[in-house]
Amino acid sequence: VEEFADRYGPWAVVAGASTGLGAAFADECASRGLNVVVLARRRELLEQTAAGIRDRHGVEVRPVTLDMADPEVGTKLAGATDDIDVGLAIYNAAAEPQGPFIETPLEDLLSNITVNCATPTIFCYHFAPKMAARGKGGIVLVSSMAALQGIKIFTHYGAGKAYELILGEGLWDELRDLGVDALTYVVGSTATPNFLENARQMAAPDPAELEKLVGAGALENAAPRSPESVAAALFDQIGAGPRAYSHPDDKASAEADATKTREEVVSAIGKMTSLFWR
Ligand SMILES: NC(=O)c1ccc[n+]([C@@H]2O[C@H](COP(=O)([O-])OP(=O)(O)OC[C@H]3O[C@@H](n4cnc5c(N)ncnc54)[C@H](OP(=O)(O)O)[C@@H]3O)[C@@H](O)[C@H]2O)c1
Repeated sequence: VEEFADRYGPWAVVAGASTGLGAAFADECASRGLNVVVLARRRELLEQTAAGIRDRHGVEVRPVTLDMADPEVGTKLAGATDDIDVGLAIYNAAAEPQGPFIETPLEDLLSNITVNCATPTIFCYHFAPKMAARGKGGIVLVSSMAALQGIKIFTHYGAGKAYELILGEGLWDELRDLGVDALTYVVGSTATPNFLENARQMAAPDPAELEKLVGAGALENAAPRSPESVAAALFDQIGAGPRAYSHPDDKASAEADATKTREEVVSAIGKMTSLFWR
């Protein structure tokens, strides 16, 4: 714990931390002795989350209400953190638009690019030079299995998360000689409140059609994982390479897909997502 806090402390910043996976990342940081700045839009929820982390771990927790789509996000981020040394910066917030590309309002397609591409860039651009100057620190971009191929119904979301995937990997190589560990965290299905709400809004697929696609019994192994387990699995992988997966099964599935044709991979996931779309 002391070694971790020395390398990645004294403060962590988690963007998108009022609930779910983001709150679980913040809790993991605190359990390793880091103080945490938690950022999100919902003030009350954020304060509740901050109080819980403070009570459990006895660290300082600073809740800051900030919308990652705010045009002034860079200045506001600086204002909220300029008096502290941030050794670990985790970008977890995401826009998660869904639906056929041509039926989605352009405004939503563009706000996907703001929250999933532009703001993560601003976030890294803000914290990386400060970490490089101190010769230590870590940056984590939270991406998705949806970033590994084109994904029908989530086309724009997948494309946005692919930007984060490659940004984190490139930063790993650029920053490692400066003592900073950057990486992309590729996350599979996780039972966050957000995920569960999205699932409620989707169509219930025909079980027979679903079984035809994934095979009998396969769904029993495909249940979403808990935010706590997915958050915990990140920490041993910081500093270990450009890309980490939230579970060995996700890594195995990504590696198996890499041996197939793109047509096969993209069509297979599209058949699956289509079943959940009304
Ligand atoms: N859940 C999954 O199955 C899954 C799978 C693959 C990848 N991921 C990735 O994992 C990350 C977390 O996923 P999640 O959405 O399920 O969970 P989450 O961590 O439970 O919720 C998202 C967090 O981000 C905050 N947030 C959302 N939009 C924001 C904005 N514009 N400005 C500031 N904060 C914002 C939300 O709080 P407020 O609403 O209070 O702002 C919330 O605290 C995302 O990057 C997502 O792409 C998730």
